Amino acid sequence: MRSLYVPRGREPQWSGATWCERLPSLSCASATLRELQTADAPMLLAHLASEEVSRYISPPPSSIEGFERFIHWAHRERVAGEYACFAVVPDGIDHAVGLFQVRSIEVGFATAEWGFVMGSAYWGSGLFVDAADAVLEFSFEAIGIQRLEARAAVINARGNGALRKLGAVQEAVLRRSFKRGGQFFDQTLWSILADDWRAHRALSVPHVH
Ligand SMILES: CC(C)(COP(=O)(O)OP(=O)(O)OC[C@H]1O[C@@H](n2cnc3c(N)ncnc32)[C@H](O)[C@@H]1OP(=O)(O)O)[C@@H](O)C(=O)NCCC(=O)NCCS
Repeated sequence: MRSLYVPRGREPQWSGATWCERLPSLSCASATLRELQTADAPMLLAHLASEEVSRYISPPPSSIEGFERFIHWAHRERVAGEYACFAVVPDGIDHAVGLFQVRSIEVGFATAEWGFVMGSAYWGSGLFVDAADAVLEFSFEAIGIQRLEARAAVINARGNGALRKLGAVQEAVLRRSFKRGGQFFDQTLWSILADDWRAHRALSVPHVH
């Protein structure tokens, strides 16, 4: 099992102050994470709209036009400094197969919530952890988030397993906090603190003498 706290040993790929103007592209071991483009809509629909992928999350758009509207909304929210959404483009593929979203839930972005979804063809491939590691570094070091929360339906074993192996801490169960398809679900509240993330990362980066 890999953890969030992998050695980095490289320079940041972004300049912190400018992300609201345009998201940087982030490289990870097996993919590039980049700004959403309107042209991503058809393949995002193909990868993310299935029942298997979306059954425990807020329903994604159900049409190409719906995804286009979402992409335009994401750009506006990013310009407003409230939100960042990265498209995941695996190496060797020319289209997006997943999304990472980070949203401010406190003025100034000190506390944020993130969410992620990937096409099921890529589940278990290692792509998620590679991409998540890049998004976490960006969230803590570029945006300046101090506390990053995630909510996963308790029944969503894969989503909870993914957060656990990233090093997130399970804090609570939020009873009947998510409604999907007319049914209420309990959610697990997870968090990662910037200080913990940095401390673990420092321990795992080899020292050069
Ligand atoms: C969440 C998501 C992005 C994770 O990507 P992924 O490639 O499936 O994640 P990984 O395979 O790297 O990690 C999932 C972990 O959960 C574990 N897991 C899967 N099913 C499980 C189960 N029934 N019980 C316990 N753990 C389970 C996996 O074994 C894996 O851990 P491991 O690698 O240590 O074995 C992807 O599953 C997805 O898009 N799901 C649909 C959307 C979603 O649920 N988003 C999260 C909302 S919080």
